[in-house]
Amino acid sequence: MTFKEIREKFIKFFERHGHTAVPSSSLIPDDPSVLLTTAGMQQFKPYWGELDPEQTIHPSIGKPVGKNAVSIQKSFRTSDIDEVGDESHLTFFEMMGNFSFGGYFKKEAIAYAHEFLTKELGLKISYVTVFEGNEAMGVPEDKESAAIWKELDPAIRIEKQGMENVFWGPTGASGPCGPTTEVYFKNAQGQDIETWNLVFNEYFYPGSREELLNSAPGKKLEKLKTPGVDTGMGLERIAMIVQEKKNIFETDLFEPILRAVIEIQGDKPIQQIRLIADHLRAVTFLIADGLEPGIDERNYIPRRLIRDAMTAHYLYIGAGIDINFCVDPVNTIIDIYRKDYPYLLEKREEIISIIRKETENFSKVLKLVGNVLDLKKQYISFSTEKKWPEVRSGTDIIDLDGKILFDIRQSIGVSWSQMKMVIEKEGFELGDKVLTEYDEAYKKHQELSRAGQERKFGGHGLLLDTGELKAANEEELKKVTRLHTATHMLQAALRQILGQEIYQMGSDITVERLRFDFTFSRKVTPEELLQVESLVRRKVSENLPVNKTEMPIEDAKNSGALTVATAKYPPMVKVYSIDDFSREVCGGPHVSRTSEVGEFKIIKEEASSTGIRRIRAVVSP
Ligand code: ALA
Repeated sequence: MTFKEIREKFIKFFERHGHTAVPSSSLIPDDPSVLLTTAGMQQFKPYWGELDPEQTIHPSIGKPVGKNAVSIQKSFRTSDIDEVGDESHLTFFEMMGNFSFGGYFKKEAIAYAHEFLTKELGLKISYVTVFEGNEAMGVPEDKESAAIWKELDPAIRIEKQGMENVFWGPTGASGPCGPTTEVYFKNAQGQDIETWNLVFNEYFYPGSREELLNSAPGKKLEKLKTPGVDTGMGLERIAMIVQEKKNIFETDLFEPILRAVIEIQGDKPIQQIRLIADHLRAVTFLIADGLEPGIDERNYIPRRLIRDAMTAHYLYIGAGIDINFCVDPVNTIIDIYRKDYPYLLEKREEIISIIRKETENFSKVLKLVGNVLDLKKQYISFSTEKKWPEVRSGTDIIDLDGKILFDIRQSIGVSWSQMKMVIEKEGFELGDKVLTEYDEAYKKHQELSRAGQERKFGGHGLLLDTGELKAANEEELKKVTRLHTATHMLQAALRQILGQEIYQMGSDITVERLRFDFTFSRKVTPEELLQVESLVRRKVSENLPVNKTEMPIEDAKNSGALTVATAKYPPMVKVYSIDDFSREVCGGPHVSRTSEVGEFKIIKEEASSTGIRRIRAVVSP
């Protein structure tokens, strides 16, 4: 059975059982407390209790979803990034899932999963897990799920597990969560692989998963108003099981990509080939959804993926780096997915040119690392101002210094595991001394950056409507802060010119530009854009003060301050206001007077998705 047939079977099966098929949402979620979409449930999060799934118009299908949905969701997880290259881990994957928001619960969900796996796919389940219960949390053992499985298959093996493994969620700052039951299959090597996770959302937790696992004081699981079901099964993994392959890279979904990488790469260590294939596939989808390699937290992800793929390429190709190395694999990737994601075809040129540009920049850096590591007759010193290692001639041989390696790694943005390989290729051994120094430098950096965050962002991690503003140095921080204030001014101007029905749907700031997504049903005309731009410019020239006040969230909302609909706010929030022009709840940081924003210019307006427009703007100098 091909992966395409698995996809189709999945959607059809659940449609037959009364589910509405909903297209995948973007990899960039609306929820500002989540960096990237990690699961199918992300787009449905408000349907378990906050929004009525039978009344709310879903933007991508133009009608309400109803109580039951099915989707195949583009997902990305950084949690497995260091495992990529083995048999079953990926960064990007497609998650097949069925969902219920107050419709059905355990009995139906388990029966559907059992029928789909054993009848539609003809598989034999190895074993299933159920929740063992947690007294402190007040969650009982899930005897009901165990009984349902036994009824469907009296011979089935059931394992009980705890919070870490079989209690899912919440994603982001808070959300629905609950016990799960997971289905395992044996792959062609006889290893048990987890494939389908059925989550029974029964609770709402007013904090993050980390807080939940650490029993954060004052936070308790609450019963959900609309309990329901959230399931997820990685398409790549189930394809591996169905196709009886030893690993995901041998499935028909990955095999052509691997072949394209091997063409340019030669038959080099398979882990590196797989890493290149995984990373280029992820980058293709991330760029198509609007990310560009950069330094803020989100855009750093495609940067890191491209750089790690390039390092793998560099390691096995030798000194020469072919800046076109991505082209054939990316074309192959687009060919595989063009039917299900037709927009990839439209963005082909853009994707390739962005990867190529990053490759070109990074190839200079890699050469430099090669030079720097050619220490036999050289000292190295790392200058933080210059950001690049400075190579000086010398005569003595010096040991590699773990602190210096850490600084280099930081400044070039490549993973430690890839950098180690470059070092080893250059003929150095990494002894305990270097590794200890490296670890110390890393720990110190983490402490400093945590303290820095608290200083700059008032100690609250992610309460920025823009996502966290991250900058490599003070200068960049100034630039992104100006762009951040410009974003508030842009939203205010859009609302004044186009109407108060405009709401922020997403915001992303890099050192180069701001990007703002908002609800609006048609193209903004050039005249309107000009009006918006002039209004922002006028407010900049008026040099208005940007005021910050702290107040309870309810007061902030009552005072007319704009909030992001899907965000969860703490009880006390900051409100930034600019005269009576703009007023928003936001974590900051912002400039203190509007003239600091500088010359504001809109550079592009386009559709982001149905009913959502996207504007890019810059400030200069
Ligand atoms: N949301 C669940 C998961 O991602 C199904 O595993």
